[in-house]
Amino acid sequence: MVEDGVKEISTVVASSANLHEKTEGIVPEIAARKQVEYIVPVISEALEKAADALVVRSQENVIRNIDALAVTVGPGLIGSLLVGVEAAKALSVAWNKPLIPVNHLIGHIYGNWLEAEPLPEFPAVVLIASGGHTDLVLMKDHGNYEYLGGTYDDAAGESFDKTARLLGISRYLGGAALSRKAAECKDNFIAGRLPRPLLHEENYDFSFSGLKTAVKRLIEDEDLPVEVVACEFEAAVVDVLVEKTIRAAREKHVRCILLAGGVSANTQLRSRLKLEAGNIPVFVPPLRFTGDSASYIASAAYFNQVYKPWDQIQANPSLGVMD
Ligand code: KG4
Ligand code: ZN
Repeated sequence: MVEDGVKEISTVVASSANLHEKTEGIVPEIAARKQVEYIVPVISEALEKAADALVVRSQENVIRNIDALAVTVGPGLIGSLLVGVEAAKALSVAWNKPLIPVNHLIGHIYGNWLEAEPLPEFPAVVLIASGGHTDLVLMKDHGNYEYLGGTYDDAAGESFDKTARLLGISRYLGGAALSRKAAECKDNFIAGRLPRPLLHEENYDFSFSGLKTAVKRLIEDEDLPVEVVACEFEAAVVDVLVEKTIRAAREKHVRCILLAGGVSANTQLRSRLKLEAGNIPVFVPPLRFTGDSASYIASAAYFNQVYKPWDQIQANPSLGVMD
């Protein structure tokens, strides 16, 4: 639950990551079944927490205070999306509240509005780097985006995950673990043993699939400690992300840079962007809003409906998910 698009009142995250660890990847049906199990208790707990935060006595009082509901409609796993959309539709009709559909990736961007002081100004260049996407977007206003470029193949997070698996660091979602391993690299010596794909191309595109092959070759050719390879890999990815993002920001004369998506938790990426952006302000989401969170979905809904009175948006019993 979020107030004015910027203040988190309550949030609950239910994760089935430990189950996916066992299967070394997401089994979509298991994720959806768990969601069916958890969705009502999670909503109930969020209302309970909101009642405490707002110092009201009951969940009914919280519900009375709600202006509108927001729900992720994609992109994502269809089973999980359907559980969320159906639950939101049911509540919207039962409580007679407007229901606002939100794109998952746009949601990630609004992690930068939560608890931000001052708020980001437009135009902004946004780097969305997650497990499924790596995109550079020019955000001209709320709801006004121009796609600048993106990955031809693997997403940045995906390449972290695949490399972590290759190095025996983690078998599932290994980005954070790989980064911790890289930090063990004592003298932090980066020899530039790996390529920087598309770095010098005159575009805003990325390509990360070749990097994991290069890592494989590096391990075969040289007997290097794991932390050194992790460090080299992280430096290669961060170099490309930082340089292309800053180039886009300069060429588009933006007022700030926004970082979004799971990879925005990466310490090197956060600090290098800030260091190298010079006088262009860089916004990074607070760490708890880098991973998936309902709060930034609410924030995205707030800022994208702000010019339209809530009571003109109806409950939408036939809302679907994104194609
Ligand atoms: O946005 P997200 O939570 O999920 C979606 O893909 O929607 O992003 C997850 C991705 C995973 O690939 C994960 O390994 C990566 O973000 N990630 C990181 C770090 N923390 C999470 N990658 C690099 N460094 C990190 N600290
Ligand atoms: Zn996500």
